[in-house]
Amino acid sequence: MLPALHSTSPPRTVPDREHALRLLDAMVRQAGARPDLADPADAAALSLAAVERAFGLYEGRITPDLPADRAFVVPSLISRHDPTRGPEIHHLLPLLDARYGVTPSWGQHLLAALPPLVLADYGAHAGHRGVVLQAPVTADLVTDLTPEASAERISGIVRDTVDLARKRFGAHVVGLGATLPALTRFGRDAVPRGVGAAVPGRNVPAVTTGHGGTVHLIRSLTLDVLDSVAVGGGPLRIGVIGAASSIGGSVLTTLLAALPDTAFLACDRPTRLGRVDRVVRAAGGEARTRVTADVGEVLRTCRVTVSAITERLDLDELVPGEDLTGHVLIDDSRPSCVDREQWHKRGARLLWPIGTGTPAPGPLHRRGDYRYGPGIGLLNSHDLWGCEAEAAVLALTGDVGAALTGPVSPEAAARIGRLCDQAGVGTAQPQSHALPTPLTLSAPAPARLVLPRPARERTAPRSSLLLRPRPSGQEGLERITTLPAIATLGTDQHLDGGEWIAKLGEDRVFMMGDNPALPVMPDRPTLADFFRLRLAQDRFTALHLIHSARRARDLDLGDTVVTACLLHDIAVGGLLRSHHGHWGAQLVAPYVSEEIAWAIRQHEILRFFPDPAVGYDYPDAYNAFFGPDYRPPGHVRRAYRDVRAHRWYMTARLITLNDVYTFDFDPAEEIDISEFEDTLGRCFRQPREGLGFDGSPVAHMWRTMIWPNNFL
Ligand SMILES: [Fe+2]
Ligand SMILES: [Fe+2]
Repeated sequence: MLPALHSTSPPRTVPDREHALRLLDAMVRQAGARPDLADPADAAALSLAAVERAFGLYEGRITPDLPADRAFVVPSLISRHDPTRGPEIHHLLPLLDARYGVTPSWGQHLLAALPPLVLADYGAHAGHRGVVLQAPVTADLVTDLTPEASAERISGIVRDTVDLARKRFGAHVVGLGATLPALTRFGRDAVPRGVGAAVPGRNVPAVTTGHGGTVHLIRSLTLDVLDSVAVGGGPLRIGVIGAASSIGGSVLTTLLAALPDTAFLACDRPTRLGRVDRVVRAAGGEARTRVTADVGEVLRTCRVTVSAITERLDLDELVPGEDLTGHVLIDDSRPSCVDREQWHKRGARLLWPIGTGTPAPGPLHRRGDYRYGPGIGLLNSHDLWGCEAEAAVLALTGDVGAALTGPVSPEAAARIGRLCDQAGVGTAQPQSHALPTPLTLSAPAPARLVLPRPARERTAPRSSLLLRPRPSGQEGLERITTLPAIATLGTDQHLDGGEWIAKLGEDRVFMMGDNPALPVMPDRPTLADFFRLRLAQDRFTALHLIHSARRARDLDLGDTVVTACLLHDIAVGGLLRSHHGHWGAQLVAPYVSEEIAWAIRQHEILRFFPDPAVGYDYPDAYNAFFGPDYRPPGHVRRAYRDVRAHRWYMTARLITLNDVYTFDFDPAEEIDISEFEDTLGRCFRQPREGLGFDGSPVAHMWRTMIWPNNFL
């Protein structure tokens, strides 16, 4: 019996052929030991050949038969939580098919040991052909690690893949598929480092996000849907979900211009509605666009809806039992944001914005009838994802300057649209999940209100200068981490101490020392180091702190308030959320004035109590966070009365006044507090030995942040 693999994403440094072959061997033995399963011999031979080919190409021992002018790079969909994922690589690695008894964890480990894979290629054109590459990025890599660690790891893997496209194939355009643009700062982190420094602009392939192709195809498909049937049943309204994002906002702007007599319902999270308003105003659509945070309302009342979000919408929760006959949802995410069956069961139709190019033979069809996997991919081998179409038309028309390296704009999408026309890419046969889907429209359904779940958006932070992990004394062993009880109690992740111990094995131990998934902290860490290397793992909170302090400074509120604002949520980002004012105050108390620590502690409750005299209202965001009827319990109300009467009340109150609830941060902004150096020099006594090592009564709390999952 083989040992079970541990349940987190395996560490990856570089592709490791020996390890990959050992894993394949173990899979064959596992399958062979199960006479009830299909004979793995052929699958093993094919998989072995694919692995050897991948390493041969990666290491330069194999040369492709034709150069490629473009590469389209996609992540893997393999997830250990879903055994049905990953069929897009079964033609190369058939051993990963569930019928050989191999769990998705094995697939995840195998991919981690592999270089990028050539999934398919396209028909030849002028001595070139395009290739589809899979960057060995699995779905779980995104969720297993902290955002910064996963962005760092994923960017490295995608850079490796872009480099392979450039070095081995000579590709001068690389398109990023699915979530890769979001995970690599719109592809900016995907450009191989140092490449092209000597000859600017020559050796660097143009890396493009594909979002222009997506917006263009959504526009074309929406117009096709509206044209395809006689619209009856009252005035038509078009919904756009995720309208604050660059794709959703561009779609909204583009459709407002294309359909000057149509009404729109634009939707996003409550905290992003301001941005949606700005998009609508910039497009001159105020008179016919309503803005809402209610996804259910959009799905029920708009007969045509475009969704530009990636998180899953549970229709049983949002539109339970609704008859949505004839409603059409155009969804740009993969996997889809709704379950096709759930949506179709309500009489509605799910469509993907897919383009189509030349059928075989031609540069826009994938050879070998490759379609990205049964049930999850495309209907025809000449159908193209929007992002795939963008990379193709950039290469085929030679207009590499149209590559998108930042958030898409309506103008950029229109330019890609013109290139699509030029290269002969139009809308494909209507489809989703590789199934043809008829276009239909009929009468709208009645309404009911449900709040949406907040979307979770990941933006890849800038990489930091990383130190090497210190020797752990556990070299050569597999090191697993446990989760603290306080974080898991009441969730399905909670394990009993015995269950954690049961995870140990001969070569598997609990992690001590530096966790390679986290940036290594220096030996004498400063507050700035904690911001840069720990709080930055929660970018949202770290930037919230920096922006709050900046605002206090701009209002000339003085060093005490600026420092209190900069530190007020330090516990949320680094330690614990519950009672974060108390934990945060305790953490900084030995290093700041009593007034600062007191104010940080008390802001925790003051947030819930308006003070009209100073212009502090109950935050709108809290209605969304906690529901409109939430009231703090009695002990909090009593504590408030004491705080209100305290001489430092206003210091704490000023934290809440600068506790800015705008969460639209520039994805490129660095977590850097050097602008507060002077203030901190006056208000924060940085210990010489480093935070965590000064023997103070709270040193252990800082060390807990350095090594959050260790036993020591
Ligand atoms: Fe707070
Ligand atoms: Fe805050």
